[in-house]
Amino acid sequence: MKTIEMLNTAKKVIENSYAPYSGFCVAAVLYGEDGLFTGVNVENASYGLTVCAERVAIFRAVSEGRRRFEKMLIYTPGQETLPYPCGACRQVMAEFFPEDFTVIVVNDREEEQFTLGELLPFNFKL
Ligand code: THU
Repeated sequence: MKTIEMLNTAKKVIENSYAPYSGFCVAAVLYGEDGLFTGVNVENASYGLTVCAERVAIFRAVSEGRRRFEKMLIYTPGQETLPYPCGACRQVMAEFFPEDFTVIVVNDREEEQFTLGELLPFNFKL
């Protein structure tokens, strides 16, 4: 799966991001067996109940019975910063993704790529 295809998908679903409080819209596109799974951030008036785009995508895929994944692209439009995944999302990634899993972060100007092992070394697993 090419990065450009994942980015095009992210640019479609970003419209569904619900971020009235932060104005920081995020889309995550997860590539695994049987194709692409998408997620956007969904905020809440009780701020702590907000769920990040990454976890929405992962939980959607897992709840559809998918367990094997290769890479995730995370996109935010109109921001100077790149959408590096938060600590909670990195821990959820570690539950389902291998250490060599690829994470690509993109905004309208630049792109960076990491492995999950780089983003969360010595991760906690049972
Ligand atoms: N957010 C994500 O969805 N993913 C990230 O990688 C970083 C943060 C969301 C949560 C919240 O809706 C907004 O971005 C600002 O924190």
